[in-house]
Amino acid sequence: MTAAVIDGKAFAADLRARVGELAVAFEAKAGRKAGLAVVLVGEDPASQVYVRSKGKSTVEAGMNSFEHKLPADTSETDLLAVVEQLNADPAVDGILVQLPLPRHIDEQKVIAAINPDKDVDGFHVTNAGRLAVGQPGFVPCTPLGCLMLLKDRLGDLSGLDAVVIGRSNIVGKPMAQLLIAESCTVTVAHSRTKNLPEVVKRADIVVAAVGSPEMVKGDWIKPGATVIDVGINRVAAAEAGKTRLVGDVDYASAAQVASAITPVPGGVGPMTIAVLLRNALVAAYRSAGLELAADAI
Ligand code: GUN
Repeated sequence: MTAAVIDGKAFAADLRARVGELAVAFEAKAGRKAGLAVVLVGEDPASQVYVRSKGKSTVEAGMNSFEHKLPADTSETDLLAVVEQLNADPAVDGILVQLPLPRHIDEQKVIAAINPDKDVDGFHVTNAGRLAVGQPGFVPCTPLGCLMLLKDRLGDLSGLDAVVIGRSNIVGKPMAQLLIAESCTVTVAHSRTKNLPEVVKRADIVVAAVGSPEMVKGDWIKPGATVIDVGINRVAAAEAGKTRLVGDVDYASAAQVASAITPVPGGVGPMTIAVLLRNALVAAYRSAGLELAADAI
């Protein structure tokens, strides 16, 4: 049996369309568009692509996009001043500072400077704390996108065994918190975990976020499990000089065992920007004091 393919691209398109409808409703009620500011420091080519794509998607969803492109030698003080200016700007509902930042800038200091109620990345310690104790806040986009795909596929997750491979602040830790909140029994595995294949074998839900190409093999997976692959790794292709994208899961073997699996590309990747737009819209509704039904988006 071959696993069902979880179509993150289609789900993300649907989510963006729903965000677009709510953005129109927001504009009618608030008398202004929702606004998302993205700050990019330096010229990292991958970051430039992400930022351009975020700006385009923001405008397509009916929101204002404010882009701040700063030179690579921008001082930490100057970057903090930009963040302060965006915190104070009532047209800006959400702020995203593209990571990684140049080495001379302390990332944690910059994240700490963002108003938590505009922190649509969910990286501020206040939002990490809110997630941990179950208060409304902002949840990092990638793990929230993974949860949406899981709930769409499985419905109620209560009582399921979940293994999250990876313990980053951006994916692994918030993913674990989200799954705990859904009443899963959660194991967080990482590079020091002993007998990782055996640990993974227990799981009804596997979320792989390690950044190691095709590390999770089909024979680690419990038959019928649901597999979410967060990895985006560029590796050499069979054809000389070409590259291809692979996940953290060995798709060919895992798809023989799992009941459902996200592909790479086209699985988790497209969800991240869609959830960012969702978070920005939620920020706008909250800042304007407007009701947004909990299940609206
Ligand atoms: N760099 C790569 N992904 C992300 C993200 O989701 N948010 C931010 N701020 N930077 C990133």
